[in-house]
Amino acid sequence: MLTDAFGRTIDYLRVSVTTRCNLNCVYCGKQDCEKKDAELTVAQIETLVRAFARCGIKKVRVTGGEPLVRSDIREIVAAIAHTPGIETLGLTTNGVLLAPLAKTLFDAGLQSVNISLDSTDGSTYRHLTGADVLQRVLEGIDEARLIGLSPIKLNAVLMKGVNADGAGALVSLAKNAPIDVRFIELMPFSVPGESDALRVTGDELLRQFPFLTPLPTEETETARYYTAPGYLGRIGFISPVSHKFCERCNRVRLLANGSVRLCLAADETYDLTAFLHDEAALEKEIRRLILKKPAAHLFGSSAPKHGLNRTGG
Ligand code: 5AD
Repeated sequence: MLTDAFGRTIDYLRVSVTTRCNLNCVYCGKQDCEKKDAELTVAQIETLVRAFARCGIKKVRVTGGEPLVRSDIREIVAAIAHTPGIETLGLTTNGVLLAPLAKTLFDAGLQSVNISLDSTDGSTYRHLTGADVLQRVLEGIDEARLIGLSPIKLNAVLMKGVNADGAGALVSLAKNAPIDVRFIELMPFSVPGESDALRVTGDELLRQFPFLTPLPTEETETARYYTAPGYLGRIGFISPVSHKFCERCNRVRLLANGSVRLCLAADETYDLTAFLHDEAALEKEIRRLILKKPAAHLFGSSAPKHGLNRTGG
C-alpha cells in the first residue's frame, strides 16, 4: 500500500504517454500542441507501471496530450493491462481517433474511456478546438459504446460566453444512453484570476437544472453525481475550484518524459528515468516521492505555470 504524509492512500496513477495533441484548444492556451517532446518507450512505461503497481497502485488512466496519437498505443494499453496488480484501466481522449481504435484497445485490455466534449454544436466545437471534427468524436462515442467500453464518461469544460449556452444539450446526452456527462470547472492555469470570469461552477449549473437529484457518491470520487427522471446516464460535477476534494485525492501522475507530478496544480516534477535500470531502487524512489505530495492545491492564490496539455488533466 502506498500512503502519503497526510494518510491518504494513493492507488491511482495517471499515465501521460505523450504531450502531443491533434487539437488546439482554447483552455490549453492554443500552444504548440503538435510539438514532440521526450516520450517513454512501451518497455519503459511497462517498467514504471510495474513498479508503481508493486507499491500499491491498482488503477491506471492513460492520458496525454492526446494518447491516441501514439502509433504504439495498443502496445501501451496491453502492457499496462497485463501488469500484475492493475485492476482498472481507463483512457482519456478527445475522441477524434477513437472510432477506428476502440475495438483494438478494448481487445488489448482497455476497460473504460473518458472523452472530452465541450460542445455538441459543430461551429462552437471548431472554435474551441481549432478543428472541424465533432462528427468524428460523436462516432467515437458511438463506437466505444458498441464495443462495450464501460463506463463511458464525457467531460465538458464550460466557459461563459464561449460554450456555456450548450450545457443543456450536453446534459441531454445522458438521457437516452448510459453515458455520464461531467462538467469540470475551468481551472486557473497560467494566469491566476484570468479564468475566474469564464468559469461556470457546479452550483451555478445545478441552479440551471433543478430537475437533477443527487446520487450517493463514492469516497474517492472527484465528481458529485446527479440523476434525473428517465435518465440512463448520470450528470457529474467536478468542482476543484469551488469544492476542493484534495483531502480525498488518491492519485499521482506519470508524465510522458518519465517524471512524476504529485499534484495537478504543482509545477514541481521528479524524474524517475534515472531509476529505470533498477526496479528495487525505482520502487524505493516512488515511496520516497509520495511523501512529498502536497496536502492541497493552491488554486485561488496561485496558478501553475505548466499547461494541462502536458499533464493530461
Ligand atoms: N480547466 C479545467 N479543465 C481543463 N482541461 C484543460 N484545461 C483545463 C482547465 N484550465 C481539461 C479538459 C480538457 C482536457 C484536455 O483537460 O477536460 O478536455
